[in-house]
Amino acid sequence: MTRSYDGTPKPVGSYPDNGINVLIVGTGLAGLTAALECVRKGCRVQVLERYDDINTAGDMYFMGLSATKFFKHWPEMAEQYKKISMANMWIETYTHDGKLMVPPQLARDRLRDEDVDPSMPPGVFQLRPLVYRMYVDQIKKLGVPIHFGNRVVDYYENESKGVGGVITDKGKKFEADIVIAADGIGSKSQRLLGGQVRAVSTERAMWRAAFPVSYLNKNPEVKEFFRMHETEDGRREPIIRTWLGPGTYALTLTRHDVMIWVVNCQSNENSQEEWSNKANSEEVVEIINRHVGEVKWAPIFKELIRLTPADCIINFKLFWRDPQPKWASPGGRVVNIGDAAHTFLPASSNGATQAIEDAVSLASCLQIAGRDNIREAVHAHVRMRFIRTACAQRLGFYNAHRLQETQWGKVKNEPKLAQPKLPRWVWEHDPEEYTYRVYDRIVQSMRQGVPLEEDDSIPPNYPPGYKYKPWSLADAVPTMGRGENIDLGGGNWD
Ligand SMILES: Cc1cc2nc3c(=O)[nH]c(=O)nc-3n(C[C@H](O)[C@H](O)[C@H](O)COP(=O)(O)OP(=O)(O)OC[C@H]3O[C@@H](n4cnc5c(N)ncnc54)[C@H](O)[C@@H]3O)c2cc1C
Ligand SMILES: *[C@@H]1O[C@H](CO)[C@@H](O)[C@H](O)[C@H]1NC(C)=O
Repeated sequence: MTRSYDGTPKPVGSYPDNGINVLIVGTGLAGLTAALECVRKGCRVQVLERYDDINTAGDMYFMGLSATKFFKHWPEMAEQYKKISMANMWIETYTHDGKLMVPPQLARDRLRDEDVDPSMPPGVFQLRPLVYRMYVDQIKKLGVPIHFGNRVVDYYENESKGVGGVITDKGKKFEADIVIAADGIGSKSQRLLGGQVRAVSTERAMWRAAFPVSYLNKNPEVKEFFRMHETEDGRREPIIRTWLGPGTYALTLTRHDVMIWVVNCQSNENSQEEWSNKANSEEVVEIINRHVGEVKWAPIFKELIRLTPADCIINFKLFWRDPQPKWASPGGRVVNIGDAAHTFLPASSNGATQAIEDAVSLASCLQIAGRDNIREAVHAHVRMRFIRTACAQRLGFYNAHRLQETQWGKVKNEPKLAQPKLPRWVWEHDPEEYTYRVYDRIVQSMRQGVPLEEDDSIPPNYPPGYKYKPWSLADAVPTMGRGENIDLGGGNWD
C-alpha cells in the first residue's frame, strides 16, 4: 500500500484540524520546524523554551538540500531563504601554513557531482542568525504560542489518560496528546525514554567566532588577505577558505558584513559542550599550534584570530555519542527529535539537516495516523529515521578523519577529497515524500514484529545496500589510529 503524495505545495490551511494537541520543548531548528509543520498538518501547537527570549546566536552551519524541501509549502520562507542564501559563494583551499592548494571555485560547482543539476547543490552554508530569524518571523505570523522562561526538568506519560507531559523548574505542568522533546543535547527526556548514552570526549574542540568584518580594518594585511572574492567583471562575492593541516582543519567565511572563522583542533581545560562557552584569542593562537608538529599555522591566520573582538569566541568541546534507538516512550506520548535524539560531529554537515528532517517526518506521521493512533505514528517515525541518522553520524566520523588526515598528493587531482563527503543518499532525500511513500509498509512490518534490521520491504533512506548492525564508535577507533580510512560498513555511501 502506498499513500498518494503528489509533491505539490500545500500551504498552511490546506489540511483540516486533526485535533492533535502538540507540546514542543525547545526553540532550536528542530523545535521550530516541528511547530511549523505540525501546524500546517492540522495540529494545535504550543512551544516551551527555557530562556526568556529567542536566541539568534551562532555563526554558520551547513544546511542540506533535504532539509529545505519543505520550504515549498512556506512561500514567504522560501523567498526569504533565497534572499539570505549566498548564491554566488566561492570556495578555496589552503594548507594550514598558508599554501593555496585548490584555487577559488564557485561552491556549487565544487560541491556537486558532475551529473547533478547545477541549480540544486547538495546544500549550502548558512548564517544561523539569518535562518533563525526567518523561522521566528514565520512562527510569529502563525501566532504559535511560545512560552519563554520555562525550563523543563522532567517528562512523563500517562498511557491510560493518553497524554504526555512535562514539569518545569517552577513546578508547572503542561500536558498534551504528544510531547516533542526538541531540547537538544542531553535532553531531560532521556530518563523517561531510557536513551542515555555515554558521551565520549574526542579531546577536540571547535573554536569559532562571527563578528563585523570592519574589525579587519585594524590590520590592512589581514584585511587584504581575507578580502571577498573578486569576479572577472569586478563583482565582490562571499568566499569560504578552508584550511587543512595535520590533525586539524579550519574554515573562514568573508561576507560584505560578517567575518567568520571556525577551527577544529585540540580542546583545552576550558572547553565545554555549550554554545555560550567563551574563549580569548590568545588561547586559540596557542592551542592551534600545539599539535601540528614542525610546520606551524600561517601567521596571517593567527593575526585574524587576534583581531577578533573580545567576547566573540566560542570554545565548543566535541563529544561523540553512539547511536541509540530509544527516541520514544513506550506509549509514544513523548518523543525526541534533533540533537536530543542524535548528536553529530560538525564534520558530518548534518546536525541541522537531520534535526529538520526529523521534524518534517514526525509531523507527516502524526497527520497520516490521526489522533487515535499517536503511538503508531511515533514508533513508525522512529523506525524510519533511526538507521538514516545513525549512518549520518558515522559519516561525520569518516569526514572528520578525512579532513584531519588530508592526503595532499591525491587532493591535487581530486579536490573533492579536501572537503566532507556529501553523499547522494543524504541530500536527495525528501522526508515528507518518503513518509507518505513508506508509512503503511512500516506499520505493517511493525505489526508483524519484523525486527528493524531485518526489514527489507522498505526502500532505504540510507546508503543503498547498507545492512544495519548495532555498532559503536569503539569499533572504529582502532582503524583511525592506524591512519586507515574509517570502515563505513558496506553499501553505497557515495
Ligand atoms: C545558541 C545556539 C547557537 C548555535 N550555533 C551554531 C553554529 O554556529 N553552528 C552550528 O553548526 N551549530 C550551531 N548550533 C547547534 C545547531 O543549531 C544544532 O546542533 C542543530 O540545529 C540541531 O538543533 P536542535 O533544535 O535539535 O537543538 P538546539 O539548537 O540545541 O536547540 C535546543 C533548544 O532547546 C532549549 N532547551 C534546552 N533544554 C531545555 C529545557 N530543559 N527546557 C526548555 N528548553 C530547553 C534550548 O534553549 C534551545 O532553544 C547552535 C545552537 C544554539 C542553541
Ligand atoms: C493517569 O491518569 C489517570 C486518569 O486521569 C489517573 O487516574 C492516574 O492517577 C494517572 N496516573 C499517574 C501515574 O499519574
